[in-house]
Amino acid sequence: MSGAWQWLVMAGWLLLGAGALSQPPHLSRTLAPDQVRSGLAFSGPDVQGLQADGFANPGLLWLVRGESLWAQRGGPQNPSCQDCHGLQAGSMKGVAVQYPKLSSGSSTLINLEDQIRVCRTRRQGASDWGFESAELLAMTLYVSEASKGLTLRLSPDPRLTVHLQAGASLYQRRQGQLNLSCAQCHDQQQGRQLYSDRLSQGQPNGYPVYRLEWQTLGSLERRLRSCYAGIRAEPPPWGDPQMRQLALYLTWRGDGLPLEVPAVRK
Ligand code: HEC
Ligand code: HEC
Repeated sequence: MSGAWQWLVMAGWLLLGAGALSQPPHLSRTLAPDQVRSGLAFSGPDVQGLQADGFANPGLLWLVRGESLWAQRGGPQNPSCQDCHGLQAGSMKGVAVQYPKLSSGSSTLINLEDQIRVCRTRRQGASDWGFESAELLAMTLYVSEASKGLTLRLSPDPRLTVHLQAGASLYQRRQGQLNLSCAQCHDQQQGRQLYSDRLSQGQPNGYPVYRLEWQTLGSLERRLRSCYAGIRAEPPPWGDPQMRQLALYLTWRGDGLPLEVPAVRK
């Protein structure tokens, strides 16, 4: 290989590395940065009031639960989260806003819940917390609280680009009996009324969220499954990489939105 050729390849790598996530090739923003709005802005005054209420917000109880799980040992011989990560999850500041990301060992795309489950079973050596279990949701919310108000910010890891592009095409794909794409509702119809709902931009910055319709906390994955059900589409199985790729795309699309903890939605 000639010197010049080597240099070109390296420059290409650097360019890809630096620019990959700010604007991956063939991926253009459907929302200008100054148009990005949290779902809270599309919510009614009742929901906004409840989220802002430092006593009545139902997510607060979930934070208390997460805090006590943080300090709890996995068993007589098993460490607590706190034993490894320190008191009050301060070490988790800035962590939640970087997910989904590639797992440290296997380079698979994982969300925050997946990472917590890995720590729970492999590092703590304790029983698994299944998807949507109260423990997993409470802990995810508690870890997220350490990043409250920080803005969504994906890592510029160029290995994410392929997943981001997959997420973008899932977002644009028409599906289900209603033959609708995410974009048709959340880009083209945002702000319009759909039955009893006002369509938001479908932003991920409040998850896990306390949803009044569920009467409980739920993950982004659960919310996405509701959207699949709404258009009569078969959702991928729980934990499927497609859901993480969609979440990755949503996070990139919502770049700059502050993390809301604990968020409330209708
Ligand atoms: C038929 C229209 C429709 C389609 C298509 C649709 N959704 Fe939704 N989505 C809704 C409604 C209604 C809500 C609840 C009100 C709101 O936040 O817009 C919602 C909520 C959401 C939320 C939660 C926003 C928040 O602030 O809590 C996200 C995220 C989301 N959708 C993502 C998606 C994705 C990704 C797809 C494609 C797989 C999709 N939606 C497809 C109607 C739709
Ligand atoms: C025995 C020590 C140990 C225990 C116990 C433990 N962890 Fe971890 N945790 C680690 C190590 C080491 C890493 C970094 C390597 C990795 O990704 O696995 C990590 C990584 C993490 C991360 C990702 C941080 C990042 O920057 O992305 C989160 C979140 C996390 N742990 C949460 C928890 C929670 C919640 C618990 C309790 C259920 C817990 N951990 C228990 C050792 C531990």
